[in-house]
Amino acid sequence: MIVPAAGLELRDVVAGYGGQSILHGVSLKVAAGETLVVVGPNGSGKSTLMKTVVGLIRPMSGAVQLGGADVSALDAPARAARGLAYVPQEANVFRNMTVLENLQVGHEFVTSPKGAPFAEQLAAVLDLFPEIRTKLRTSAGHLSGGQRQMVAMAAALMPKPSVLALDEPSAGLSPRNAELLFEIIGRVAASGVTMLIVEQNTRLGLGAADHGVVLVGGHVRLAAPAAAVLADPEIHRLYLGGA
Ligand SMILES: Nc1ncnc2c1ncn2[C@@H]1O[C@H](COP(=O)(O)OP(=O)(O)OP(=O)(O)O)[C@@H](O)[C@H]1O
Ligand SMILES: [Mg+2]
Repeated sequence: MIVPAAGLELRDVVAGYGGQSILHGVSLKVAAGETLVVVGPNGSGKSTLMKTVVGLIRPMSGAVQLGGADVSALDAPARAARGLAYVPQEANVFRNMTVLENLQVGHEFVTSPKGAPFAEQLAAVLDLFPEIRTKLRTSAGHLSGGQRQMVAMAAALMPKPSVLALDEPSAGLSPRNAELLFEIIGRVAASGVTMLIVEQNTRLGLGAADHGVVLVGGHVRLAAPAAAVLADPEIHRLYLGGA
């Protein structure tokens, strides 16, 4: 799948809820085609960061850049139309619709300037997710948790986004299914999509990433190549547990 490359950058972002800040000046950068995984303790602001990136929360100060353009003032649909796809942690498929219908909604809902015809994009996405090829007529509500995550990611890729944002893709999956999902995430990354992933499972998440960010209390505690974050015993002892 040929995807136009675009990077993502946060500059000194302060954001939160009801005037109270949760992110206290967060800066990070994902180069075009690379994968950045954000890890950190519960409540450190990872989902808040994701919501700020996709436009569900507007920053109080600082900027969000997509493909070099400042999108801080754009709402979530406008950012989606510029090639930013988002898979939230929960409620990320239409359970009473079939897998194929979910992919059709994914394709039609967002009108991306880079979009491809449905049949062409369906074929490209099913190459990345052969596991759901035989499930196209199945109701998404009847799938396993791992299969549902695949459908959610596949639907998000239907408009041919430049950047894919995933919040806790392995949440609720068995260790084996989480490993399988990250194998597929590796495939998606290799297709050229820029990825920003928030993940509880530090070993799996950082194992699939180029760069890692450790977010603690709304501050970036460490930003480094993923292998360096994985290898930092102090970071693990203090913030990430034994993972
Ligand atoms: N809608 C909201 N309104 C007010 N405060 C919120 C809201 N959502 C989250 N918070 C607060 O923001 C802080 C960070 O929450 P956030 O969900 O970003 O953390 P997280 O790092 O994603 O945690 P987890 O690992 O548990 O998913 C928490 O103190 C939380 O209570
Ligand atoms: Mg969260």
